[in-house]
This record gives sequence, structure tokens and C-alpha cells, in this order.
Amino acid sequence: MRKVKLFIASSLDCYIARNDGSVDWLFTDGDYGYAKFYDSIDTVIMGRKTYETALKFEEHPYKDKKCYVFTRNPSEKYRNVEFVSDVVGVTKSLVRSTEGRDIWLVGGAEINSVLLDAGLIHEIIVAVHPTILGRGIPMFNNVKQANMKLVDLIRYDNGLVQMHYQLMPC
Ligand SMILES: NC(=O)c1ccc[n+]([C@@H]2O[C@H](COP(=O)([O-])OP(=O)(O)OC[C@H]3O[C@@H](n4cnc5c(N)ncnc54)[C@H](OP(=O)(O)O)[C@@H]3O)[C@@H](O)[C@H]2O)c1
Repeated sequence: MRKVKLFIASSLDCYIARNDGSVDWLFTDGDYGYAKFYDSIDTVIMGRKTYETALKFEEHPYKDKKCYVFTRNPSEKYRNVEFVSDVVGVTKSLVRSTEGRDIWLVGGAEINSVLLDAGLIHEIIVAVHPTILGRGIPMFNNVKQANMKLVDLIRYDNGLVQMHYQLMPC
């Protein structure tokens, strides 16, 4: 069975973006395991607002991967992207009914929350930046409790810590 992995960066106080969606506080001086992780997946899934943020950095982000963007108003705007509305149904069918590598859940908070509550986030790899933002968009919003098991931890000299968790059965 394919796994859904949330590979994400957060502040020390667990925000993934400022309130205006900006991520200017993220370290850009290193890769922090991104290239290796990107090679391990063949599909990316994310919320529409996260996709809009990615478009600010690149005209056709994730173009070498199968890309699904969740929105309540699907359209045919971009060729390499499928806009879909059934967050849980589409993710379940990717996990259970398709062959392939693992699936990167890019974010953001709204989609993370729907999929966590549905038990469809199998692993979380979070790069915690040594920065307190004070306010912003959290990693999850009003979710049920989920217990995770720490399977790896990498400490970088600049204070960034990357933690790798697996979902424990409830
Ligand atoms: N730090 C990081 O590593 C990282 C990673 C990812 C994202 N982010 C940040 O997170 C921010 C976005 O997070 P967010 O929580 O505001 O938004 P989001 O989860 O990326 O996207 C929200 C959108 O998803 C769609 N959606 C939500 N629930 C749905 C449902 N049940 N069914 C169908 N569609 C649904 C809606 O799109 P429509 O409005 O089109 O209907 C909604 O507006 C961005 O600013 C990005 O920078 C940071």
C-alpha cells in the first residue's frame, strides 16, 4: 500500500506560514533532505491555497509528478494538474487502488486536517525552524488527537531539527 507523507516545515511554535501565507522565514541555505524525499514520491497532493503559493516560486511546480490540487471549485486551468474536490475519496483511492511510489502531502492546514482526521497521513517529516513567529497558519486546525511514533531525528548545526514520525494505530 502506498503511504501519504506530510513533508513540511514549521516554526518552533508550529506555524507553517505567516497569516498572509508567506514563508519568507524558511531557511533556504540547504536542502534538508528535500531532493532525496522528492525522488521517493511520484504524486503530490495539496490544497488550492498551497498550490497558489507554489505558483509564486515556479510557473509549473511539480511538473514531473502527478499532481492533485483539492478545491471545492474544480477547473481545467493548468495542464499538468488535476483539480479535484473529494479530498478523502481521491486520497483513499490513490493509496489503495493505484500502484506507485509514496504520495507527498504538501499541505496546508485545511487539507492536512481533513486527511489527519481520516487517518490518511501515514508519516510526518517536519523540519522545525528555530524561529517563533507568534502568529500564523498552524499545521493542523481543530483535529482529533493522533499519536505518532518518532522514527528518526536529524539535528543541523544551524538549529533546524527534522523529525520523522509514523502514525500509531489508535
Ligand atoms: N511551511 C510549509 O512547509 C508549508 C507547506 C504547505 C503549505 N504551506 C502554507 O500553507 C498555506 C495554505 O494553507 P491553508 O490551510 O490556508 O490552505 P490549503 O489547505 O493549502 O488550501 C485550502 C483550500 O483547499 C480547498 N479545500 C479545503 N477543504 C476542502 C474540502 N473538504 N474539500 C475540497 N476542497 C477543500 C479549498 O479550496 P477552494 O477555496 O479553491 O475551494 C480551500 O480554500 C500557504 O500559505 C502555504 O504557504 C506551508
